[in-house]
Amino acid sequence: MRFSLRQLYIFEAVSRHLSYTRAAEELHLTQPAVFAQVKQLEDSIGMPLLERIGKQLHLTPAGREVLVTSRETRDSLERLEMRLADMQGLKRGRLRIAIVTTTKYLIPRLLGEFCTQHPGIEAALTVTNREKVLARLTENIDDLVVLGAPPEHLDVVAMPIADNPLVVVARHDHPLASKKKISLKRIAAEPFLLREPGSGTRLAVERHFARHGLAPRVRMELGSNEAIKQAIAGGLGISVLSGHTLTLEGDSGLLTTLDVAGFPLMRQWFVAYPAGKHLSAVAEAFLTYLLSDAKNRRRRDGAGSPVPPQ
Ligand code: PGA
Repeated sequence: MRFSLRQLYIFEAVSRHLSYTRAAEELHLTQPAVFAQVKQLEDSIGMPLLERIGKQLHLTPAGREVLVTSRETRDSLERLEMRLADMQGLKRGRLRIAIVTTTKYLIPRLLGEFCTQHPGIEAALTVTNREKVLARLTENIDDLVVLGAPPEHLDVVAMPIADNPLVVVARHDHPLASKKKISLKRIAAEPFLLREPGSGTRLAVERHFARHGLAPRVRMELGSNEAIKQAIAGGLGISVLSGHTLTLEGDSGLLTTLDVAGFPLMRQWFVAYPAGKHLSAVAEAFLTYLLSDAKNRRRRDGAGSPVPPQ
């Protein structure tokens, strides 16, 4: 059997997503390149590793075995890399972070500053929704993740790093824009733009409406905060988004927040990792950096301030 580590890593990503396309997106490769690598791996093993039943991709029994070995190989090489990097302190090393989309208004900047201070560190940042961040956390793929609320069903270490206020967003000329203390019931009557399933923002919105015996009148589901903002600007409806999507990105005055009873919904962002995980020296250093930035911000803005640094 002759195959490469790269083929094992590609196969691991395809197995995790059960999709060549999504694995290609994650790995920044083309779908045919990913397909070809998996095919070569199958040829050298001499057995199919994946099979398509209907539209769904499944692992074969041989595929499940190869997946276990791929993960063990990856983990043990990463441990080796970590031990070697730890011997060099912060001079070298790799940092793998996954964050939920709303935190992209904060974390990349902090990661950028950290990497500037430690130029030998190679960082990889994945920005995706809550469900996918949780899947990565379960599979112990990243050094650290940043997400909207610590998962209840996983044993993790989680520390709050910033407030995340959810606000009701409408186009600046919306009839409710000038109203005060609008009821949630009134908001529930408006055409609503909802994030995709798996989004933490969506979960928080649905739970909030449900707590009041209501549900939003969904006009459209969209897969990103930016798409929702464009749809609001296009007059398709209103939505609930993290206030950071407005404060830090700028919206050329097209969007406004509505004064709705019970809003902003206060959430928090947490940095987390699986309980019992041994953090590398680099991950420890970045964690300390995040926590000290959070402390400085709280001191500067006063506890409970919802607005991060701009
Ligand atoms: P998300 O971010 O909506 O992109 O999943 C979520 C969160 O703040 O939990």
